[in-house]
Amino acid sequence: MNMLPLRDTDGPQRYRAAYIIHLRDIWNDITESSTGGDQTSTAAIGLVSVQESQVYGIPLPDLLTLPDKDASRDPVLKMEMGYMLLPESWGKGYCTEAVAGVLESYKKATNFWQPYKGVYLNLIVGEDNLASCKVAEKAGFQHLGLHEWPGEPVFLAGAWRDCRVLVFGIYLARPKAIEI
Ligand SMILES: CC(C)(COP(=O)(O)OP(=O)(O)OC[C@H]1O[C@@H](n2cnc3c(N)ncnc32)[C@H](O)[C@@H]1OP(=O)(O)O)[C@@H](O)C(=O)NCCC(=O)NCCS
Repeated sequence: MNMLPLRDTDGPQRYRAAYIIHLRDIWNDITESSTGGDQTSTAAIGLVSVQESQVYGIPLPDLLTLPDKDASRDPVLKMEMGYMLLPESWGKGYCTEAVAGVLESYKKATNFWQPYKGVYLNLIVGEDNLASCKVAEKAGFQHLGLHEWPGEPVFLAGAWRDCRVLVFGIYLARPKAIEI
């Protein structure tokens, strides 16, 4: 995976990262090594994004996220994750593997989220998106509930949908002051 930290240059610091998911061509690797070459071949098949909730995310009620008053006390950076793969790559376990990899690397990337003492991540999923729910649960996200709001349908995961989404949450890094 390549990590592309994107930071706005003007105004207050904002937190965003995009992880491009690459599929490695192992047959090419085998051929290359047998001929003494060292060219690895990959194809980009998807994206995992992580971005600051307050700036880029969907506003959520306190029951479905870490409440702002708790986040500002420690302080904890609140972020929202999204992911998508090209359709020909669906159903092969790639997203599950990619999200697990992002969570692991993100926990270690303490330079990225300093000066915060912790990171809390929300994930918003269309209520009929079973594949995405499974990815979330296998990655360790907690299912927090259904969020519904009045208004026109929203464009989510390739289609216009009613304003009803499932909300998941997880601590990527937890300040020592917060009890588990
Ligand atoms: C959601 C998405 C990212 C899942 O990626 P993926 O690589 O296909 O997911 P995985 O192969 O890791 O599968 C995860 C689980 O979902 C299941 N699954 C996959 N496609 C499914 C489908 N259409 N219906 C039900 N379950 C499905 C898999 O069997 C697997 O479960 P298992 O481990 O119990 O077998 C992908 O379908 C996608 O990009 N969809 C369009 C964009 C989108 O919906 N993004 C999510 C927005 S929150």
